[in-house]
Amino acid sequence: MPDITLDESSAAAPDPKASPEEVSRRGFIARAGLGAVGVCYAGAVAYPVYRYLAAPAQQAAELAAVTEVKIPEEKMPAPGGALMFRFGSRPTMLIHHKDGTMVCLTAVCTHLGCTVQYQPEQEHIHCACHGGVYDARTGANISGPPPKPLQRFNVERANGEILITRV
Ligand code: FES
Repeated sequence: MPDITLDESSAAAPDPKASPEEVSRRGFIARAGLGAVGVCYAGAVAYPVYRYLAAPAQQAAELAAVTEVKIPEEKMPAPGGALMFRFGSRPTMLIHHKDGTMVCLTAVCTHLGCTVQYQPEQEHIHCACHGGVYDARTGANISGPPPKPLQRFNVERANGEILITRV
């Protein structure tokens, strides 16, 4: 019967010829590499979570910082049309009704935040996501899932500009 001998020289075993200083250097490099991988992994997990949590607060701060938007009159939509622009970071629409009145409303649906569209034929604002409908003159939610009216803005014409401000 042959003798079974265990091979004690494996990659993980310390090199018996290595000096104690070399062994500790190898250990340090291994730990540093493991630490760097750990830091990268933690960053890859934490950064998207941070962005997800910080986004609403950042958007609210950006929106609060903007108090008015000026639009040159030459960009005014024709009667029966609407101009989309941004009030801060929010899509907003300036509607020029056929009777000459102008209404400015946020273009963000109060249901789940889709961007809404003006439909001049019906004098409605429609949300394609779930069929929400708003009144194009008041922004009132009139059918579908939206729980609240669209936010309104003041509209003034002066000195060749249209001034949009918060109500
Ligand atoms: S997001 Fe507009 S109706 Fe649902």
